Amino acid sequence: MPWNLPGELKHFQKVTTGEGNNAVIMGRVTWESIPEAHRPLKGRKNYVLTRNDDYELPEGVELAESLEEALNKASNFDEVFVIGGGRVYHEAMMHPNCKTIYRTVIDKDFDCDTFFPKIYEEEFSLADESEEVSENNLNYKFLVYNKK
Ligand SMILES: NC(=O)c1ccc[n+]([C@@H]2O[C@H](COP(=O)([O-])OP(=O)(O)OC[C@H]3O[C@@H](n4cnc5c(N)ncnc54)[C@H](OP(=O)(O)O)[C@@H]3O)[C@@H](O)[C@H]2O)c1
Repeated sequence: MPWNLPGELKHFQKVTTGEGNNAVIMGRVTWESIPEAHRPLKGRKNYVLTRNDDYELPEGVELAESLEEALNKASNFDEVFVIGGGRVYHEAMMHPNCKTIYRTVIDKDFDCDTFFPKIYEEEFSLADESEEVSENNLNYKFLVYNKK
């Protein structure tokens, strides 16, 4: 990610950890983008999507060959968060069980190669918007959208 916002990472950790019985689902490239010292994401069951069923993962981290398979495997957790990347977000947003989007808006343009899909206001409505936070010369805020 082309920004360094520890407060945003803390927010991500707090929201996705919840009461300690949550799961996160991510694409294989996102898994590989997390520094080894920080993965699996602690306090949450980690599921990694890949079509390579030989892909090696540390003990406790589960492989799933489709989003549906990961969601079925994670069905006993309190909340399940799909945490990227771009293609996985797109598939998850179209899924009937996708209820909420947690979005952080940073008030600056960056040169990127992976993007969050467009949020259509016919499908999702803005439910919450935080005050602006300033960190490392960047302003950002947290938005929450609910499925209509
Ligand atoms: N700013 C943010 O909030 C944020 C969040 C997450 C990630 N990121 C960034 O996004 C980048 C990665 O995103 P990305 O879109 O390139 O990749 P990605 O979605 O993380 O991973 C793509 C890979 O996941 C597997 N996959 C995806 N959908 C699947 C499905 N339905 N069934 C089975 N496997 C599936 C495939 O793995 P195989 O090729 O192994 O089959 C695919 O090549 C990284 O740079 C990361 O840092 C940013």
